Formats: sequence, C-alpha cells, structure tokens
Amino acid sequence: MIEAKNLQKRFGPIVALDDVNIKVPKGLTLLLGPNGGGKSTFMKLALGLYRPTKGEIKLLGRNPWKDANVRKNVGASFDPPALPKFVSGREWLSFLAEGKGVDAEEEIAKVSEMFNLEAFLNRRIDRYSSGMLKRLSIAQAFIGDPKVIFLDEPLANIDFDSVAQIVSVIAQEKEKGTSFVVISHIWEPLLPLADYAVVLSAGRVYLAGRAGDVKEGLENLFRSDKLSHQHTRVTNEEKQDKEPSASNESLFNKVPRRKGEKSRV
Ligand SMILES: Nc1ncnc2c1ncn2[C@@H]1O[C@H](COP(=O)(O)OP(=O)(O)O)[C@@H](O)[C@H]1O
Ligand SMILES: [Mg+2]
Repeated sequence: MIEAKNLQKRFGPIVALDDVNIKVPKGLTLLLGPNGGGKSTFMKLALGLYRPTKGEIKLLGRNPWKDANVRKNVGASFDPPALPKFVSGREWLSFLAEGKGVDAEEEIAKVSEMFNLEAFLNRRIDRYSSGMLKRLSIAQAFIGDPKVIFLDEPLANIDFDSVAQIVSVIAQEKEKGTSFVVISHIWEPLLPLADYAVVLSAGRVYLAGRAGDVKEGLENLFRSDKLSHQHTRVTNEEKQDKEPSASNESLFNKVPRRKGEKSRV
C-alpha cells in the first residue's frame, strides 16, 4: 500500500528521515516513535505534500508527489489540526467533498454522525474549542470513503469517552475494508485493531513488522526509554553504526537501528 525505498527527507541541515525502506501493507498500521522521530514527515511524504530529498515513496502504487489524483482515494487528519479559521466546519467539509467529487450533503451527514459534529458544524472554526477542532479534523479524513486514511494523533488531548468512540469508528471502517495509518502516542487502545507496526526513531526505521509479532517488543519499548530523542543531522555521509543491541536482538535483528547520537555538525 505504501512503499518507501531509500527515502530521505531533509529540512536544511536536519535529516528528518534517512534511508527508510519499508512496505506498509493494507489494513491498520500503527506508526509510532518518540517526538521528532519523523512520523509526521513520513505521513506528509506518503500524501505527496512533501517531496522526497532522496529515494522514493509510493502510495497505492503511485508517486503521490507527481500524481495528485492518488489523493482522491485518501483522507488525512493532521496534528495539530490544519483547518481554515474563517469558514464553518460545514463549509470546510463541503469544500473537501467537492474536491473529491462526492456528494457533500451526504458525506457531511455521515461524518457528522460518526463524530457528533452536529452541534457546532455551522459555527466558524475560529470559535471552536480544542475538542471541536480535533473532532472536525478527524472527521475530515473520512469524507468520501477513502481507501486509505491517515490519522496523526487522533487520540491525543481528548476525553476518555471520545477515545472509545474514535477507536470504535476506526474499527467499523476497517471492517468495511478501509486501510489506516495511525500515528499515536496513545496506541494501546488501537493495538487490537493493528495489523502492522512501524517505529521511527531519529529518522530511521527502528522496528517494523506484523503487529502480532512485535506486540511484546512494543510494550517493552515504550515502557523503557530505549528510543533516541536525537535526530540526525547532515554528516559526511559516512555509514552509521547499525548494530542491534544485544538486549533487543530478537526484536531488531531485521531492521537497522541507531542509538541516540549527538549532533556532529
Ligand atoms: N517543515 C519542517 N521544517 C523544518 N523541520 C521540520 C519540518 N517538519 C519536521 N521537521 C523536523 O524533522 C524532524 C522530524 O519531525 P516530525 O516528522 O514532525 O516528527 P514526529 O512526527 O515523529 O514527531 C524533527 O526534527 C522536526 O523538527
Ligand atoms: Mg508528529
């Protein structure tokens, strides 16, 4: 569904992603890792909103940077929410529905019911509470029955009941055949739905595999503080040390990893 080959993304001196090689299958994929690991950058590359610095990424077999049509099959919710201020939620969703060539009224009614938007849908977005912004921003991803839905932190900063509600909507849509890539610090409620998991740390793939195979590893990983909070900077291109540490051998023997590394620039 998503295929990255030698993918690199730099922002000036910062290497947000480096040498990422993964195949994300259909189903629900959890995209995890510490802050600054490169998760949101990966999502934006997959959506064709960023252009790779090196290497390539394909979404549904196509180059998302060159082929904007692929985005018609895709929905996305960003963190922080990326929403206009001076229109109502209804106008915003209507705009997205038109862009996808689907019936706006029908689609808005559908997502409004999924995420309880009705009470504030006609209000200007700059008057929304943070909870309302979050709901609208998640709802936008479901407009037009996309084949693939990307959700960046859908469970952050919402109350407990909303977590359950959003997880249950994801479960229902997944049941209908929609694929998901979910970035979430709060990943435990999503683990029962997950088919695949990718951990990005310091711009590298730290771990990738079927969710069932990596479940225990994820639990260990996030209980300890093994992941690097450093990101890579441009260096003299020398190969980095990719040796897995002995304690994590079973988990990391299939993928490159890097330890926390101080900037050398
Ligand atoms: N648009 C940008 N401009 C400059 N640096 C960026 C930009 N987006 C991300 N970065 C940097 O790239 C690295 C990865 O960021 P990001 O993909 O947002 O990580 P995550 O989503 O895992 O927290 C960070 O060091 C971040 O500061
Ligand atoms: Mg992010």
